[in-house]
Amino acid sequence: MLKDLGANAFGYGYPVPVLMVATYNDDGTVNVMNLHEAMRTNAGDLALCIGLRSKTHENVQKRHALTVALVNQSLMAEVDYFGTVSGKRVPDKFARTGLKATKSKHVDAPVIEGSPLVIECEFIDIANGTNFSTILARIVNIAADDSVLDENGKIDSLKIGLILYDPFGTGYVTLGNRVGKAWGECKKYM
Ligand SMILES: Cc1cc2nc3c(=O)[nH]c(=O)nc-3n(C[C@H](O)[C@H](O)[C@H](O)COP(=O)(O)O)c2cc1C
Repeated sequence: MLKDLGANAFGYGYPVPVLMVATYNDDGTVNVMNLHEAMRTNAGDLALCIGLRSKTHENVQKRHALTVALVNQSLMAEVDYFGTVSGKRVPDKFARTGLKATKSKHVDAPVIEGSPLVIECEFIDIANGTNFSTILARIVNIAADDSVLDENGKIDSLKIGLILYDPFGTGYVTLGNRVGKAWGECKKYM
């Protein structure tokens, strides 16, 4: 028997990868926010739900570029800090963590050193809501650290050591193990 928990029990959704969204401030310094409300559209773009009052929202509007990095456990304290403090209140929040960044070769946005996988994006469109905008960003390039690639040079999700934000438990969880093959587990019904 399923138990009804009401519409709000869903909170901020189900566990999804926690991301670092990096942009440049007006003075060329780096700002980073923590973001979990993101998806890849079927057109190959990213749709990111970003708070209207955030520094990131302002920076994306001005520079029309951003990078989105996956996070492993070694960056957990930093990504949590980037989600707790706004660059509007603490303009040097990125610098305070001691992390370094270099300019993307493809877009006008920083790439955070130590990220296992970085998605470099250009702003293409925006749909404004009351408190959040959905920002549509075109993926221009994906850069991955060698350590997350398999012997054929393909990205191996388990090697990333990805952490996810778990809204049910207000925590960060790891990805776990591979348990099946997509378009393969169905074969007993074929
Ligand atoms: C686990 C976690 C997940 C978050 N997810 C989002 C999100 O999906 N969208 C968003 O706008 N803010 C999200 N936030 C809040 C922002 O990261 C936060 O408002 C941050 O201070 C914004 O930084 P900025 O103003 O420097 O851009 C999240 C925070 C945490 C800790």
